[in-house]
Amino acid sequence: MNITNIKKEFPVFDAHKDLCYLDSAASSLKPRRVIEKMDYYYNNLSCNVHRGVYGLSYQATDMYEEARNLVANFIGSEFEEVVFTRGASASLNLVALSYGMDNINEGDEVITSELEHHSSHMPWFNVCKKKHATLKYIPLTKEGRITVENFMKVLTDKTKVVALTYVSNVMGYITPIKEIIEICHQRGIIVSVDGAQAVPHMKINVKELDCDFLSFSGHKMLGPSGVGVLYGKKKLLDKMNPVEFGGDMADVVEKDSQTYKDAPYKFETGTPMIAEVIGLGEACRILDEIGLDEIGSYENMLAKKAIELLSQIEDVEIYNKNTDTGVIAFNIKGVHPHDAASIYDKNHVCIRAGHHCAQLITSFLGQISTTRASFYLYNTMDDVYKLVDSVKEARDFFKSF
Ligand code: ALA
Repeated sequence: MNITNIKKEFPVFDAHKDLCYLDSAASSLKPRRVIEKMDYYYNNLSCNVHRGVYGLSYQATDMYEEARNLVANFIGSEFEEVVFTRGASASLNLVALSYGMDNINEGDEVITSELEHHSSHMPWFNVCKKKHATLKYIPLTKEGRITVENFMKVLTDKTKVVALTYVSNVMGYITPIKEIIEICHQRGIIVSVDGAQAVPHMKINVKELDCDFLSFSGHKMLGPSGVGVLYGKKKLLDKMNPVEFGGDMADVVEKDSQTYKDAPYKFETGTPMIAEVIGLGEACRILDEIGLDEIGSYENMLAKKAIELLSQIEDVEIYNKNTDTGVIAFNIKGVHPHDAASIYDKNHVCIRAGHHCAQLITSFLGQISTTRASFYLYNTMDDVYKLVDSVKEARDFFKSF
């Protein structure tokens, strides 16, 4: 696949010819190949994995485990370091509930930031509350960024875990996470990275990054919903306890004792999301074929152009003029984003309005709600012009009262 004319690979554009989809930070669209791969499983196999002692089940297991291999290659990890979950939120919660609850004690400190999605900081808020530990927030710069300098201001001898987003889902800023990880590891601190908005848009090699945990979702990276990944360093996953118990994760179960399979299987109880995992594997293959560097710079180029044009419209306030990715957060002064979104929707421009499950950064901006446009590989310059025209129309409409 090639980034030119990529739209034709996404069937939703056949169903909606005028679609201007600018909400990929919420969920990306799905290419035909991913849908067909999942269809293949349902049409030809349909059965469970890891359990059946018959050919169909062996084939389903092979497809499921091949997908784990594809994901591992995609992020540069070992096969057994890939745990399939329901999504990034489930992965982030698993780290907090398993590693956090067993390793954070009274008086310890956990560092996070106001740039986090709720799924990144809320699990640690709860761990800290239960364990009488302290959750600390890195002071953001005026622009709303995390810097190494400001990180150092909250780092102490009591810090045990750092939980940070790699890319903000509202501001599109890239965190200097590699530098932060290096500093943390010199002090034996564990770093859990929320990669939900990073993995679909930039090439990440977990060995080079050296993060301890990386969480991400399938549905933001051309894959299906209902599946996500927790990457964890093998030495950590091996020591961690499961938080859900039941089918397929058990090894030997007796009335007064139970043992579990090795990671990753001890974290994957119950029948997994088989078709979804297989679809995610295909999504990784597609992103690798196109090249994440090309995707990342393409969507940033579109976002920068949109920012340039939106900046010329009176009353438009842009909160992240220097976005590093394809995400723009803005408002029309005096117009609620939900009202403006109704005009955008009339023009088939799909964007998200609200607090984006990131109320801390929305408050930091002094807002209760923002409008967010997010670009991905299937967007074009035409989408930029449609967005800008719709914003002009909304501004003129609401300012005429
Ligand atoms: N986390 C997704 C977003 O930022 C849903 O929109």
